[in-house]
Amino acid sequence: MYSTPWMSDIVVGTMRWGIWDANFKTSDYQRMIEKSLELGFTTFDHADIYGDHTTEAEFGEVLKSHPELREQMEIVTKCGILRVCDNKPQHYIKAYDSSKEHILQSAEDSLRQLGTDYIDVLLLHRPDFLMNPDEIGEAFELLYRSGKVRSFGVSNFTKSQIEMLSESVPVGTHQLEISVKALQAFSDGTLDQCTKDGIVPMAWSPLGGGDLPTALVEELKKWADEFGTTPQVIALAWLMQHPAGILPVIGTTKEDHLVKSKEALSIKLDRQQWYSIYQASTGVRIP
Ligand SMILES: NC(=O)c1ccc[n+]([C@@H]2O[C@H](COP(=O)([O-])OP(=O)(O)OC[C@H]3O[C@@H](n4cnc5c(N)ncnc54)[C@H](OP(=O)(O)O)[C@@H]3O)[C@@H](O)[C@H]2O)c1
Repeated sequence: MYSTPWMSDIVVGTMRWGIWDANFKTSDYQRMIEKSLELGFTTFDHADIYGDHTTEAEFGEVLKSHPELREQMEIVTKCGILRVCDNKPQHYIKAYDSSKEHILQSAEDSLRQLGTDYIDVLLLHRPDFLMNPDEIGEAFELLYRSGKVRSFGVSNFTKSQIEMLSESVPVGTHQLEISVKALQAFSDGTLDQCTKDGIVPMAWSPLGGGDLPTALVEELKKWADEFGTTPQVIALAWLMQHPAGILPVIGTTKEDHLVKSKEALSIKLDRQQWYSIYQASTGVRIP
C-alpha cells in the first residue's frame, strides 16, 4: 500500500540556504530551486529546525508565488528534534520527541511553512530513546490517510532501531551521514539493511560538510584529473557507485556547484579506484 516516492539521484539540501549560512533572499531561493529542477535534481531536503525554524517558510515563499513548481518537485522534511532557539522559547534543552502529538503538530507546521498540502517523505530526524513504535505508527497512519504525508522514513538510526520501528511503520528511507570521510555505514550493517529491505539510503554531508582532510582531497584529485573533473564530483560519484543506490544530499549554496555536481552521474569508478579512495580515508591498507 505504501511506497517510497521516486526521488532524484542527487537530492538538494536546504540546510545552508537560510540564516544558518548563506542568508538567501527569496530571489536566491527561487534561482536555486529553478536551477536544480532544470538539472533534474527534483528532490529537496528540509527539516523543521533548519534556520531555527525559518528555512521551510523562506522556501515556501517561492512555492506560494509559483505554485506550479510544487508538482515538479519532491519534498523531504524531518521532525522530532526540540531545538533551543528564539522561535521555540518553550525549549530549554535540546531533546528528541517522537510522540504522536509532536509528529502530527510538526507535520502541520511544515505543511503551513512550506506552503504545500502534502509532504512526499517525512523523516524522524534522530532516534528518540523514548520512542514508542506503535505511537509513531498511529501518527504516520493518520498523516498518510489524510494525504498529508506520502511516505515515511528515519534519519541517523541504528539497524536495530529500524528493525524495531519497521514492525509498526513502513520505513522507506534512511538518511544518514555517508561520505569519503564518514565510512561507518559501509560496515555497520546499515547499507546492507537498505539493500535487503529496499530502504532508500540518502547521504547527508556527502562532501564531509565541505571539509575533507588534505590527504583525501589529494587522492580524489588524482582521479578527478583523470576524469577531467573536480575532487568533489569524484566524492559524489564514489557514493553513488554503491549498489544500495545512495542518494547524496548535496549542501551547496552556489549555482555553479549545483551544475558541477551533475557530472557525478556519468562517472563510473572501477573497483581499484573505489578502494584507493576508501583506503586514503582510513589510512590503513585493505586487508
Ligand atoms: N539528517 C541529518 O541529520 C542531516 C545532517 C546534516 C545535513 N543534512 C542534510 O544534508 C544536506 C547536505 O549537508 P552539508 O551541507 O553538510 O553537505 P556537503 O555537501 O557535504 O557540504 C556542503 C559544503 O560543501 C561545499 N560544496 C558543495 N558542493 C561543492 C562543490 N561541488 N565544490 C566545492 N565545494 C562544494 C559547500 O560550499 P558552497 O556552498 O560554496 O558550494 C558547503 O560549504 C543539508 O543541506 C541537509 O539537507 C541532514
